[in-house]
Amino acid sequence: MVRTCGLGIVFAVIAVPVALAQFPVPAAKPTPDILFRNQCATCHSLNASDPPRQGPNLAGVIGRKAGSAPNFKYSAGFANADFNWDDERLDAYLTNPQAVIPGAVMPYRQANADTRKSIISYLEAQH
Ligand code: HEC
Repeated sequence: MVRTCGLGIVFAVIAVPVALAQFPVPAAKPTPDILFRNQCATCHSLNASDPPRQGPNLAGVIGRKAGSAPNFKYSAGFANADFNWDDERLDAYLTNPQAVIPGAVMPYRQANADTRKSIISYLEAQH
């Protein structure tokens, strides 16, 4: 009895990955522009002539000094952020804004590295 149960579990464990491999869920992976639109655009515009939204304008953000978008009042920690945005900083910031800039008020975190990478590649492509 016990052995049968054990085998059942083994079969179940093997069967699941095989089933996934043979019948992949149809690709529903959002493209980078859609990710940006869904996850960032409520608060950030990429159009330089747009006014800031809840967050600063992100047109040309890669290579730009942190906390330097015109017409935006940043939280206090940005005054000490003496760096320019690059892939690495953005990746860390999107993972946990407050770890990069203490007290940052951006209410967004993205734990999925692929999603972060995709969004950062989209920002790169806007240059
Ligand atoms: C709910 C609103 C909101 C969302 C969603 C959001 N942000 Fe922000 N973001 C902010 C705010 C507010 C700030 C300014 C933070 C501060 O002053 O502490 C900010 C700041 C930033 C900065 C710093 C810009 C600079 O000029 O130094 C970057 C980069 C950034 N956000 C990228 C993103 C990206 C990329 C996404 C989507 C993956 C995103 N944000 C999603 C509100 C948001």
